[in-house]
Amino acid sequence: LQKPISAVVLDNMRLALLCVFKVVLLVSTGRIGDAEEGGLKEGKGSAACPVKLRPSAHCEEEEDCPYQVTLPPLTIQMPKKFKMLEKTMKELHSLRQTVNKLKSSCLECKQQADQILQKDSSEGPGPDPTSNEQGNKSQQSTSIHDMQIKLNKMSSSLKNARKEINSLQGRIEELSLLNMKNVEAMVDKKVKNLTGVVSSLDSKCSSACPVITSPQFIIAPRDCSDYNVLEEKKNGVYKVTPDPKNGTFDVYCDMESFGGGWTVIQHRFNGSVSFNRTWAEYKNGFGAVQGEFWLGNDKIHLLTKAKDMILRIELEDFEGVREYAKYEQFYVSNEYLRYRLSVSGYSGTAGDALHFSKNYNHDQKFFTTPDKDNDMYPSGNCGAYYGSGWWFDACMSANLNGKYYHKKYKGIRNGIFWGTWPTLSDEHPSSYRQVFKTVKMMIRPKKYAP
Ligand SMILES: *[C@@H]1O[C@H](CO)[C@@H](O)[C@H](O)[C@H]1NC(C)=O
Ligand SMILES: *[C@@H]1O[C@H](CO)[C@@H](O)[C@H](O)[C@H]1NC(C)=O
Ligand SMILES: *[C@@H]1O[C@H](CO)[C@@H](O)[C@H](O)[C@H]1NC(C)=O
Ligand SMILES: *[C@@H]1O[C@H](CO)[C@@H](O)[C@H](O)[C@H]1NC(C)=O
Ligand SMILES: *[C@@H]1O[C@H](CO)[C@@H](O)[C@H](O)[C@H]1NC(C)=O
Repeated sequence: LQKPISAVVLDNMRLALLCVFKVVLLVSTGRIGDAEEGGLKEGKGSAACPVKLRPSAHCEEEEDCPYQVTLPPLTIQMPKKFKMLEKTMKELHSLRQTVNKLKSSCLECKQQADQILQKDSSEGPGPDPTSNEQGNKSQQSTSIHDMQIKLNKMSSSLKNARKEINSLQGRIEELSLLNMKNVEAMVDKKVKNLTGVVSSLDSKCSSACPVITSPQFIIAPRDCSDYNVLEEKKNGVYKVTPDPKNGTFDVYCDMESFGGGWTVIQHRFNGSVSFNRTWAEYKNGFGAVQGEFWLGNDKIHLLTKAKDMILRIELEDFEGVREYAKYEQFYVSNEYLRYRLSVSGYSGTAGDALHFSKNYNHDQKFFTTPDKDNDMYPSGNCGAYYGSGWWFDACMSANLNGKYYHKKYKGIRNGIFWGTWPTLSDEHPSSYRQVFKTVKMMIRPKKYAP
């Protein structure tokens, strides 16, 4: 039979807490380290105990000093009464010192008394045969009498001192007992409370956890990856709800390529849809998700906000060359932040055209359309110049929303463009421009297991 894990954890916690209190007691009674030399050394006392108890803020002598215990990896805030404990321990320490002083002074006093007694016995009794003086004898007897009185006084004060010591000792024991009892009671109470919390969590988990993985309990899939639990993984149009506050919409899911679970946000393959569009059209999306389309900046924002997403770009030219670019991080801000792009972590075969150079970098750029200029080009609108909406810099090393050309063209490079395309280096300034047959942008949660 094994103890349940939570019980073991609590046992350990209780041990650790007691260990801390032991350290506190030892420190305040000055038994470890060297109190006179000031402060604790990194001694055995503290090394054996990885737990630390200390004030959680800078505090002087006020009693309401908050304390905290650090139990790696757990930190518990202790009640403010803990300052009292330390104070009591300090009092105890000074009491102990007083007792020790009394003890040593008693010892001295006893030694003195013994010496006097010895003198008395060697000189006192029996008349000195060589002396005949009466006065001298009587003087001696009076001094002995005095001495005896003194002695009696001393012995009674000794008795008193002993009584005092006894009562003090009793008090010390009482005090340490009291405090130990308090501490233990407090620990017990805390552990009991934690036990309650842990067992309530336990019961919650045992009923709810297995249910979550079961497909019929997914009420609102947030993106295509949530449809991966379906028996039949088929490409097509599905409904997603990335944020319940913003409703449900249709997306095209690629459930077959590269492990599936991809939500397609842009697709071009035959030039049937123009991408020379306004801010409002890019905001809401255009085209049909089964055909050529832009999903819409609001929807892309909601999808990338709901989960950490990766981006995969698939490109193919008319010679049948296919390459891809993958980014481990992809996020599009909201309209208020002008749909700013965050993209990083490139891998792939098409080259990192979104971070082409210092002067051509699409990361952290705002979205620009022909009717809304948010680009880095000071004397014009890149969106209007190229007839597309995109995260233009000044202006671009990539533009997947450029004009769809069916064959190579000359002049302004306003077609679909990827600046690191392998065969681009063969292109001469005066010659024809590279053209693309298909382009597809799709996203999937970073934490995705096919
Ligand atoms: C007492 O005795 C001492 C010597 O032992 C002597 O010097 C002294 O004078 C005596 N005193 C009296 C008052 O007799
Ligand atoms: C644990 O302590 C908190 C605050 O001290 C209290 O609100 C709660 O009811 C306690 N829980 C149990 C199970 O005692
Ligand atoms: C989400 O819904 C809220 C409330 O309906 C709306 O104000 C907001 O503009 C929506 N955001 C997006 C990105 O659609
Ligand atoms: C492009 O493809 C769509 C969807 O397959 C089709 O409806 C449309 O007719 C095609 N247009 C052209 C110009 O080929
Ligand atoms: C984009 O469309 C507008 C109006 O629809 C037009 O005036 C403009 O010439 C187009 N731009 C390009 C680069 O095709």
